[in-house]
Amino acid sequence: MGEHIILIGFMGAGKSTVGRRLSRKLSRQLLDTDAMIEARAGMTVSEIFASRGEDAFRATETEVLAGLALRREPVIISTGGGMPMRPENREALRRLGHVVWLRVKPGTVCERLAGDTTRPLLAGDDRQQKVEALLAQRGPIYGETAHLTVDADGRAPEEIAEEILTKLHIGNIRREA
Ligand code: S3P
Repeated sequence: MGEHIILIGFMGAGKSTVGRRLSRKLSRQLLDTDAMIEARAGMTVSEIFASRGEDAFRATETEVLAGLALRREPVIISTGGGMPMRPENREALRRLGHVVWLRVKPGTVCERLAGDTTRPLLAGDDRQQKVEALLAQRGPIYGETAHLTVDADGRAPEEIAEEILTKLHIGNIRREA
């Protein structure tokens, strides 16, 4: 297993926010797969979905993940919520390092993403229903991919980051306050 810390979980779970905390605490770089895909394409995720379709987005996601395996220094990786859906991605994620699932309930997602227009999979009406259906389908897959599951409902990012470091036994020597 590699040394990276990889955050997985649903949209709105707090992967980027918790990732930033971990990055600061461990003085490690934070990489965000959505941002890497956007930089490659020169478009936002929504634009990629609209102009090239979800399959093209998923293919780029897999390519970006493969590229991460070449990184030597340990980093924090925040992934798009659909990253573990492809079986080959699940294996690649687990090989990269410690996979941590930030688990949230549908209500938390809807609260946090109220008014958000950047998630094409949640566009349109019946957001609550879409979130519930997707989470029901994805929950077991996140669980099967993760080495560690952390509940993220109603908790501060700082507390979640601390729990991750404690449970991964990442000691104070390598941490900054
Ligand atoms: C997706 C999650 C998004 C982004 C894309 C698809 C998903 O990332 O990759 O909109 O399938 O759950 P976040 O989890 O960072 O919102």
